[in-house]
Amino acid sequence: MDETPLQHYADELYGGEDPLLAQMRDEAVREGVPAIQVPPELGRLLQVMVASTRATRVLELGTLFGYSSIVMARALPPGGRILSLEFNEKHAAIARRNFERAGVADRIEVRVGRALDLLPSLQGQSFGLVFIDADKESYPSYLEWSLRLTQTGAAIVADNVWRHGSVMDADDADSRGLAQFNRDVTHNPALITAIVPRLSGSDAASVSVVR
Ligand SMILES: C[S@@+](CC[C@H](N)C(=O)[O-])C[C@H]1O[C@@H](n2cnc3c(N)ncnc32)[C@H](O)[C@@H]1O
Repeated sequence: MDETPLQHYADELYGGEDPLLAQMRDEAVREGVPAIQVPPELGRLLQVMVASTRATRVLELGTLFGYSSIVMARALPPGGRILSLEFNEKHAAIARRNFERAGVADRIEVRVGRALDLLPSLQGQSFGLVFIDADKESYPSYLEWSLRLTQTGAAIVADNVWRHGSVMDADDADSRGLAQFNRDVTHNPALITAIVPRLSGSDAASVSVVR
């Protein structure tokens, strides 16, 4: 999709696209992986959230080829770690290779499996930031797990919560999941939540802080 003038302006302001991340994206596409990573402005926001929460442990649901993991890893405090859960073996293998190239392999662990199958093994652990970016149907369950795995001051970020407007009709399982998530995340008194639209205007991320 072509950039809007404001997207172009913002990209320039941020110093242009990171050449290594751009290369990884192009390679992933050539290997048949969809380029559905976070847009640069959400990458920036994730870095702000990692730094402002001083998260030493980050949990990510949905690794893809490792774009958002690498972006967050660059904002971690010394000793910080990311655990990323990914269903697809091929995506996980490409991501691990990319973590080596980006020099962050010591900070990111990818576990392969369905997030809902893996999350119970984390019961009792605590994360400073959870980034939800796997299958959309499960977002309400991911929010429940995020609340179990965080404490006051932690952040819960979720991408694609508008899904090109389909949440308004909610006539498929993914959109229904997102519509439910949006109601849950905005009505939960334990959370302060802002929905942050993308520069493209077609989608949004939700950003919550645990009270
Ligand atoms: C939107 S992509 C993640 C993008 C990545 N966070 C980024 O911005 O670079 C979604 C990823 O979630 C994975 N996924 C889908 N369903 C999943 C599930 N049930 N459990 C774990 N991962 C899942 C997909 O294979 C895909 O790699």
